[in-house]
Amino acid sequence: MKILIINGGMRLGNTWTLTKVVKEELNLLSNEIEYTEIHLKDLNLPFCLGCSVCFRKGHKLCPHNSIIRELMEAIENSDGVIFSAPTYIMSMPALTKNFVDHLCFMFHRPRYFNKKVLVISTTGGVGAKNAVKTMIGYFKGWGFNKAYGLWISSNSWNNYVVKEKHKIKTKAVVEKFYKDVESKKLHTPDYSVLIPYNLFRGMSFDYVKGKEYETADGEFWQNRIAEPYDKSVPLPIIKRIFGNIFYMLGKKLSKRVIVTYKK
Ligand SMILES: Cc1cc2nc3c(=O)[nH]c(=O)nc-3n(C[C@H](O)[C@H](O)[C@H](O)COP(=O)(O)O)c2cc1C
Repeated sequence: MKILIINGGMRLGNTWTLTKVVKEELNLLSNEIEYTEIHLKDLNLPFCLGCSVCFRKGHKLCPHNSIIRELMEAIENSDGVIFSAPTYIMSMPALTKNFVDHLCFMFHRPRYFNKKVLVISTTGGVGAKNAVKTMIGYFKGWGFNKAYGLWISSNSWNNYVVKEKHKIKTKAVVEKFYKDVESKKLHTPDYSVLIPYNLFRGMSFDYVKGKEYETADGEFWQNRIAEPYDKSVPLPIIKRIFGNIFYMLGKKLSKRVIVTYKK
């Protein structure tokens, strides 16, 4: 099993201490896990410029694509991802935010439908649950099939001592994550995932090649316009209907609102 660990914090501090406990627990479950570690701080990824080239022309034309490509390939080549970042001001640190800004185009054009992620955060006292849930929302928006969360209050500046109750919580989450990755089972998506997916699918017609404001979205959706979610993922009839309702809404909405850009 190939596990990619992305460290979205600037240091190897409390959150990294917890990440090491996660690794220990995983190693108790299997001695055949191959880890790859990426520390975002080492990539020197410049701030997202907000040029919107990724949305309009495609992410491969991002001025920072040489770095982004490396990250995307690493995710693609993994069976599961562990994303680790401390909680700053009740949310994620700027380093992580810059990473997710660069991948924001995937809300419009999701992928990673067979990937699972475990998001980890520590906080001094409060806010880690909020940080983890926010990051989970991003991963799900990018297409990740299942996301697990682990949040812990360290009550410490850089001197976090892992308590027994934290080990118990970690073990429980890690077991679920490991079993799920190992099973390769694909879960049906949440309703909250189907809404943006199908709105973008429905809105895509006005952005296809030859339209006044053609974008990479238009081309992307034409290749998957028939289905309310990626074909590889099971979708019960009720969710198909739900998805298709939002597809129709997207089509209607698109007639009223066209997203323009300077040519
Ligand atoms: C800039 C900054 C913002 C922080 N914001 C919060 C916060 O909102 N709530 C909180 O309880 N702790 C907060 N903390 C404390 C850290 O979340 C806590 O010490 C965490 O375990 C640090 O993880 P690290 O050692 O991996 O960086 C903050 C710390 C820093 C440096």
